[in-house]
Amino acid sequence: MSRFDAYGRYYDLLYQDKDYAAEVAYLDQLLRRHGVAGPEILEFGSGTGKHGRLLAERGYRVTGIELSPRMVAQAQAQTQVNPGFTCQQGDVRAVQLGRHFNAVLSLFHVVSYQVTNPDVQAVFARAAEHLRPGGLFVFDIWYSPAVYRQRPEVRVKRLADAGVEITRIAEPRLYPNENRVDVLYTIFARELATGVTATFSETHPMRHFSLPELDLLATTAGFDRRDAEAFLSGAPPGEDTWGVCLVYARA
Ligand SMILES: C[S@@+](CC[C@H](N)C(=O)[O-])C[C@H]1O[C@@H](n2cnc3c(N)ncnc32)[C@H](O)[C@@H]1O
Repeated sequence: MSRFDAYGRYYDLLYQDKDYAAEVAYLDQLLRRHGVAGPEILEFGSGTGKHGRLLAERGYRVTGIELSPRMVAQAQAQTQVNPGFTCQQGDVRAVQLGRHFNAVLSLFHVVSYQVTNPDVQAVFARAAEHLRPGGLFVFDIWYSPAVYRQRPEVRVKRLADAGVEITRIAEPRLYPNENRVDVLYTIFARELATGVTATFSETHPMRHFSLPELDLLATTAGFDRRDAEAFLSGAPPGEDTWGVCLVYARA
């Protein structure tokens, strides 16, 4: 089973506490601050479409590309509500839409899901191909200084809605020579109507990055860095900043 096939079923419940509206307000402001030239946005790893729909409410026209068919299906089930957001199944390492956008966004660590250098290089190359000079590539990543300072730890998350109770255990394993953390998620989902508990697990390998490493990958693909800051707060990145937001402009 591929990543997010099983996990994706409970994705919106697992992240119900994530403040997508605040994130989209932050992103809107970030794009304006960097002079985004128009409303056309390509979103890499669009998930269940939460950012895309909220950006569309602010007047952007968002095209999402998402690897997991289950996540695409969940996003599409809600898109008729908001025609400014559409999405399709695809791999952002290979996508070729044959048109340009004003910005490429990739949110909630999608770039960190690209664990090898060829994977990350492919994502930068695909972003560059879909932007004109001056177009923006904006994404957030796991930041190496914070990963080593804070150390990922075992976490348990419990959630419920009217139909199901979820317990998720996240067990990290560090691979320091590869800038990678493999997170083993084990999920217990108890259907309230039947009392039946389904158990499944998925490993999510996550890459973390330093700024010089990202800058090298980006400049090779024809990008100049415009900004690096803590996602949401805008503070300078440091050892306490797990999620750093990068803004690169196509040269
Ligand atoms: C943590 S989720 C974030 C989803 C969404 N951006 C959000 O903020 O809710 C990471 C997403 O990236 C997608 N993804 C990872 N690698 C991808 C790839 N190579 N091409 C397209 N989507 C990818 C996963 O399927 C998953 O939906």
